Amino acid sequence: MSAKSRPSRKDVGKIETIEEVVKKHDIDTVYHMAAILSATGEKNPQLCWHVNMDGTMNILELGLKYEMARIIVPSSIAVWGAGVPLDDTPQETVLKPTTMYGVTKVCGELLGDYYVQRFGLDVRGLRYPGIISHETLPGGGTTDYSVEIFYEAVDKGKYECFLKEDTMLPMMYMPDCINGTIQLAEADFSKLKHHCDFNHAATSFNPTQLAAEIKKHIPGFEITYKPDYRQEIADSWPNSIDDSAAREEWGWKPEWDLSSMTEDMLKHLRERKEAGTLYER
Ligand code: SER
Repeated sequence: MSAKSRPSRKDVGKIETIEEVVKKHDIDTVYHMAAILSATGEKNPQLCWHVNMDGTMNILELGLKYEMARIIVPSSIAVWGAGVPLDDTPQETVLKPTTMYGVTKVCGELLGDYYVQRFGLDVRGLRYPGIISHETLPGGGTTDYSVEIFYEAVDKGKYECFLKEDTMLPMMYMPDCINGTIQLAEADFSKLKHHCDFNHAATSFNPTQLAAEIKKHIPGFEITYKPDYRQEIADSWPNSIDDSAAREEWGWKPEWDLSSMTEDMLKHLRERKEAGTLYER
């Protein structure tokens, strides 16, 4: 996007700047994606709270004021922490996150559900796993390795991973994430038993498995491991999650797995490398 066509930056934590946009464009549906993710959140927990909580509250308040049709507030696998079953983590289980990001996501789910029950506002949300995209560069999360690895594989043929080789995490390719989010947004509200906390899954893998998949396309690819502070965050999150509530209540079904996603990611990034625009956005 050129600087000319880039929308001006807004602070979601300042309600007046967002209200201006809502009024100007007569907005009746918000996909509220603004958030500070887990790794950045641990470097600045106060900023994480401000953006994630004040931001969400502002959007919900504007939803009420302007009688919006619908607000979608994504949550995350970061809602989980100590005491949770790590395999096939169920929809209903203990939520004891250890990161500020996770704390804000649990609060965001509860806040959204509160606005549904108390004010009848149509708010919906789903717990995103690590999202992998060839359009968006990693943005300060613990699952970022799963995006960085593709860029470095295409660019340099090697990658130093900040998580341990056997760190299994739930992951999803961006097209599934977009489809799922739109499916939930368009679902019949009266059929939803949950609102802001749907488990949302596609696949799960660890760095060794992802590297092996990349090697099928780039045989010389090498991965090394140098775990940092993000390892502890990753260790507090599930290996895989049970998304049967999403499947039953709004028909969720993923289309991409590790193998098809890897092939597609590499195809797009190789094209961009050839065009000399690998890191351009
Ligand atoms: N991708 C996010 C993170 O790593 C999890 O929702 O923080």
